[in-house]
Amino acid sequence: MTTERLISPTSRGPEEEQISFSLRPRSLDEFVGQADLLTRISIAVRAARQRSESMEHVLLHGPPGLGKTTLAHVIASEMGARVHVTSGPALTRGSDLVGALTRLEPNDVLFIDEIHRLPAAVEEFIYPAMEDCRIDVAVDSGMHARTVSITLKPFTLIGATTRAGMLTAPLRSRFGIAHHLKHYDSEDLLTILRRSASLLEIEFELDALRTISRRSRGTPRIANRLLRRVRDYAQVKGSGRIEARIVDEALALEGVDHMGLDELDRAYLRVIGTTYRGGPVGLEAVAASMGEDSGALEGVVEPYLLQIGHLARTRRGRQLTHDGANHVGLELQTPTATDDSLFE
Ligand SMILES: Nc1ncnc2c1ncn2[C@@H]1O[C@H](COP(=O)(O)OP(=O)(O)OP(=O)(O)O)[C@@H](O)[C@H]1O
Ligand SMILES: [Mg+2]
Repeated sequence: MTTERLISPTSRGPEEEQISFSLRPRSLDEFVGQADLLTRISIAVRAARQRSESMEHVLLHGPPGLGKTTLAHVIASEMGARVHVTSGPALTRGSDLVGALTRLEPNDVLFIDEIHRLPAAVEEFIYPAMEDCRIDVAVDSGMHARTVSITLKPFTLIGATTRAGMLTAPLRSRFGIAHHLKHYDSEDLLTILRRSASLLEIEFELDALRTISRRSRGTPRIANRLLRRVRDYAQVKGSGRIEARIVDEALALEGVDHMGLDELDRAYLRVIGTTYRGGPVGLEAVAASMGEDSGALEGVVEPYLLQIGHLARTRRGRQLTHDGANHVGLELQTPTATDDSLFE
């Protein structure tokens, strides 16, 4: 159930990637939001171009669907170079990395997605490549073992990860720019939706798009997905134009409410609110009560509830906030952590 959610921030696979490809910003000018990051990147790009050098290595971390892959393509195109895409788990041996690096042309971008899953043996090869454009390859073994140094063309490594904490310190320190992508506010999402709607040649009422932007959980990938779903509904049940009524009906059909929460989010809030009287309660207990996998809850349900303050994580477990309880029509009876002090 969890992977099929309309409001999941993770990609639904190749089909969705293909559609999103057409909606991807191609240049820094088209990229919306993340102002701090864009300033850093555009200075780095311009400086590198003036010196005719490759751009610094960049580490992008943050939740899924916020534009890490998109930005890697944008950087490459601003550098007038190409991007080669691979991922941590795909580079199983040192030789995979050697292959990827020796194929690069000067100033090309090597994009490594899920870089936190790079095997330790491969990581060692990357250090000299990042620092000195050199890679040391072992030839022969045993008594005749020796290493040969291969010189690489200057390149930019862009690493992306949703789990920055899992990166080793030596790897992290070799990136000139490391940046955390934040969720987008609804104004930025509205801008993104307007652009997508005009690329897809959809007619819309601005207020209707604004409603979608508020339900997109700060995530462009979700905004674009909701837009496509609403477009289908408008085409079949309306005139094709996206209007406020159409958005409400289409999203109600999908169980997505005014905050962008779906049935799974609400079930989670309800279980803590009723079965566990608001908490604190351990994640495993909540998962067992719901018949869901605890990892899935932690990965796809909790982050957004924590972000909007519907949920708190304390040392004693998960705890519903007043907002979280209100959202599912409950009143918290138990004193909250701050109220405890009144009874001391
Ligand atoms: N700043 C932005 N402006 C406009 N559209 C954006 C922006 N960021 C992302 N998008 C849209 O959202 C979609 C998802 O972005 P992208 O694939 O780059 O996310 P990601 O961070 O790489 O996600 P994942 O962690 O799942 O790989 C893109 O196809 C693009 O259309
Ligand atoms: Mg990506």
